[in-house]
Amino acid sequence: MGFSTDAIHAGNEPEATTGAVSVPIFQTSTYVQPELGRHKGYEYARTGNPTRRALEENLAVLERGAAARCFASGMAAISAVATLAKAGDHVVVSDNTYGGTFRLYSKILAHMGVEFAFVDTRDSRNVERAMRKNTRFVHLETPTNPMMSLCDIPAIAAIAKAGGALVVVDNTFATPYFQRPLELGADIVVHSTTKFLNGHSDSVGGAAISKTQELDEWIGFVQNAAGAILSPFDSWLVLRGIKTLAVRMERHEANGRAVARFLTTQPKIRKVYYPGLPDHPQHALAGKQMRGFGAMISFDLGSYEAAGRLLGAVRLCSLGESLGGVETLISHPATMTHASIPEAERNRLGVTPGLVRISVGIEDVADLIADLEQALAAV
Ligand SMILES: Cc1ncc(COP(=O)(O)O)c(C=O)c1O
Repeated sequence: MGFSTDAIHAGNEPEATTGAVSVPIFQTSTYVQPELGRHKGYEYARTGNPTRRALEENLAVLERGAAARCFASGMAAISAVATLAKAGDHVVVSDNTYGGTFRLYSKILAHMGVEFAFVDTRDSRNVERAMRKNTRFVHLETPTNPMMSLCDIPAIAAIAKAGGALVVVDNTFATPYFQRPLELGADIVVHSTTKFLNGHSDSVGGAAISKTQELDEWIGFVQNAAGAILSPFDSWLVLRGIKTLAVRMERHEANGRAVARFLTTQPKIRKVYYPGLPDHPQHALAGKQMRGFGAMISFDLGSYEAAGRLLGAVRLCSLGESLGGVETLISHPATMTHASIPEAERNRLGVTPGLVRISVGIEDVADLIADLEQALAAV
């Protein structure tokens, strides 16, 4: 089926007893069993819940995976996937990944005997050079947060496969509407459903979608054993959000392109990072592996003071962490989302004190541009 049809119908079967068209929120911790040794498919709600199952079925279809598992946050999903590596294993990671992923790997898993190589995955040869005999998986984020750089998923997947490693792609920014990593050679897709998938800034959640049943079996085992499950209500919110994902992403992107174009005309802005701009170094790659460029833009105002003035002057754009909601959110990566990355490393990556990130919402774009214009006047 087409994307919108799947988004609305996959996993969203009418409820068996009443025919309710919206999957009910099964707010229960356990299920009565008709007799000893026999149950109706559900035993205990950490292990399985029909609302969460509906979302998992929906996401598996949208990402073209064999199965999906939903978690209490994007980080919980990434933590579950990370258990594929054990002490003595090696993992290659995009050096320009979400700060929380960097923190999880460098501050927690590194202490448990897993070795990490953080490399610039814009150039696939860096992945090739970093691969070792014990490389268990390669973790990619594309486009990256907040520098909007891309990595060539098919090229890196071929390198990883040749070395016997799996490829995990964080598809939070693009969503399956614009990019399907499993079709490009990846083995597992992770999401912070908190962002575009839910889309309304009212739920925190995560998902891991596996290409094979075998991988899903392990992720499902961890989901149940470690227990960081998505609640029934949050599962319902994300299911509901996904029904409008296609129309939201179209509007997000149209607004994103217009805002990016506007920002490039502003003399106070030194650089605009957006894969949809023809001068983005990976614009051609974006056209090849993505169906659209999304709505995440970063731009550099040259100093912390200038960024502070702009962020203090915006009225419609809301200053806050997170992204992917219908409302435009604007943030300062160096002190907010990426504060956990050491300063020298941040500067090397381009996460400078003057960098501002904007998650363009679906408001009327003229209002967004007018707001940015008046805020730039204060810089
Ligand atoms: C690309 C990316 N991956 C993962 C996460 C973590 O997700 P969560 O905040 O839902 O744990 C985030 C959060 O900002 C993110 O931007």
